[in-house]
Parts: sequence; structure tokens; C-alpha cells
Amino acid sequence: MYLLTIESTCDETAAAILTEELEVLASVVASQEDLHQQFGGVVPEIASRAHVESILPVIDQTVRLANLTLADLDAVAVANTPGLAGSLLVGLTAAKALALALDIPLLAINHLQAHVYACRMASGKDVFPCIGLIVSGGHSNLYRCEGPTDFTLLGGTIDDAAGEAFDKVASLLGLPYPGGPSISKAALDGDPKRYRFPRPMVDDKARLDFSFSGLKTAVRYEVHGTGKLTGEVNLDPQTIADVAASFQDAVVDCLVAKAELALGKTGYNTLCVGGGVAANGRLRERLEESAAKRGYELHIPPMSLCTDNAVMGAIAIERWKAGKFEDLSLDIYPGLERIRS
Ligand code: KG4
Ligand code: ZN
Repeated sequence: MYLLTIESTCDETAAAILTEELEVLASVVASQEDLHQQFGGVVPEIASRAHVESILPVIDQTVRLANLTLADLDAVAVANTPGLAGSLLVGLTAAKALALALDIPLLAINHLQAHVYACRMASGKDVFPCIGLIVSGGHSNLYRCEGPTDFTLLGGTIDDAAGEAFDKVASLLGLPYPGGPSISKAALDGDPKRYRFPRPMVDDKARLDFSFSGLKTAVRYEVHGTGKLTGEVNLDPQTIADVAASFQDAVVDCLVAKAELALGKTGYNTLCVGGGVAANGRLRERLEESAAKRGYELHIPPMSLCTDNAVMGAIAIERWKAGKFEDLSLDIYPGLERIRS
């Protein structure tokens, strides 16, 4: 069985070809990073136009890399929730066109479930049941994952996502987009203890939510002076490194604390981490320490499977096995509310 998976939820156009045994025959990711860099964040309209331009070449290249032709495909799956509406529509339309033209089944992928499934793909073994921590530019969520497609939301950000906070603080410090990699690079030479930024909600043991907006404002006040939100920023490289390191540690403290709390509350013994922020070296280090100390199993995929990709769309094989096919009325669901099971 050859499954083509398509991912276009945000600013990466990606496709992969997978088999029923979860073998990856080909995977292609076209990043739009360069297009959004000058704006310091993803511009939805630019993202959807770029998807339109790259979706067919990406699919073509994927099929060729797998040494197949379109006629060899047995099913097509597409991430239709959550994400940017315009971006989601491009992937969905391409998938529907292929399903119709090739007369093959169409399957839906929940992008957040796919991020957790990346841990299944990377580890080569069953990771369920687990706690899923999804930290990306758009989400910071904790899920109870009873199975690959059986998720319950335990908590999430009440304002900015973790990756969004990295991107905004980087832009404040004059560091390039995307902010996560720039901040972690700058932080390597910084003193994480120089500034004591707040750890919002960490002491609230009743909730599994995050809040990064106040932390971002605390950094802003540190950079511009208390009470001032704008102005010239003229920081020396050591101060930039110290702010970056102190900010990064504050975010990491929040993520680790709530992940540990979720494991404790549910009694689960496995933590799966996904999303672009999972590429953060400090977060990985701190979670590894936490797992070693508390004795739980930790899965963090390699960088290429943390950021958006179509390999994690292998989760559609689970739906294929369960006979959960879609028809051509399949729609997009940009918001979080629609976790399909
Ligand atoms: O999952 P992703 O590729 O796209 C979505 O948002 O869906 O995540 C992108 C986010 C960006 O906000 C980026 O700054 C952040 O992941 N990121 C990182 C790192 N690499 C990427 N954040 C912290 N540390 C990193 N090393
Ligand atoms: Zn993502």
C-alpha cells in the first residue's frame, strides 16, 4: 500500500510516501522561511500563495523520489485541521483532486495528532498511551493521548504560543526570524540567571495551561525600560545573549513543570513532545533530566520530524486500517475544536 501524505497547515509545503508498515519511501519539505523572514512572522496570505506555487512540484518530486508514478498510489491523506485557513485549503484541494482523478481513498490528518505520531515514527515503537506536549509557533498544548487518534485536551496557552513568544522576543532583540533557533543560538553565550523573568502559571498546580504574553512583556520592559513598550533598542551582544538565555530558561521551566504535572495527574508514564519548539536544545536537555529523575519514558523526535513535515502524516495509516475514509465533502477546520477520532 502506497500512501501519499500532504501537509500545508502553516508555512511548509510537504509531502511523503509511506507504506502500511510505516516505511518512509520519500519525504519532501519546501520551507517558506525566506518569504516570511522580513515580516518577523508568518503572513497568511503570502503563505497560501506560496503553497499554491509549490504544492504540485513538491508532490511530483516526492513521487519521483519514491520511484513511483501517481498511478501507483493507493490512498491520499491530508492535514485538514488545525492551521491557517488559506494554507489548509491548498493541501485539501490538491488531495481531493488526486483522490478524484486517481479514484483512490481520501483520508484526513489532524496536524496536532500527527506531531505526536512523529514520536511513533522516530522511535519505531508504540508510544501510546502518552502525554503529548505540542509546542509550535501556533500551539502550546498538553494532551492525554490514549491512542494515536484518541486525544483529550488537558491544557493549552491562554495567550501566545511558546514558539510565538520565541519569535516575538527575537524580533525585540533584533535577532532574525524564526526566533526559536536565533534565541537558542544567542543563549549559548548567555547567562540564564542574569535576569529573573516570570514563570507564568507555574505555581498554579490545578491547571495545565500556559501563558507567555506576560513573560514577553517582562522582556520588553527589561529591554526598553519599565512601563515602556517601544523605543530604540541598542543592546550590547552580551546583554542580548543574557536576555535570550534568561527568557529561554523561563519558557523551558514552564513547559517542563506543566508536562511533569500532566504526567503526575494522569499517572501516565510516557511523554511525547512535538512541534518546532521541541527542537530547542535547552528544552530537550531539561526534559531528559526530568525523565531520568522521575523515571518516565521521553520521546522527542529529531529536528526534521519536530518541525512541520509529511512523514508524521503516517498517522493516516491508523485511520486507513480503521476504515475511516472521507468523501469529497471533507472541509478544513482551522481552529482547535475539531479533534477527529
Ligand atoms: O511546528 P513548527 O515548524 O510550525 C508551526 O508553528 O506549526 O514550529 C515553528 C516554531 C517557530 O515559532 C520557531 O521559532 C520555533 O518553532 N522553533 C524553536 C526552535 N526551532 C524552531 N523554538 C525554540 N527553539 C528552537 N530551537
Ligand atoms: Zn506544526
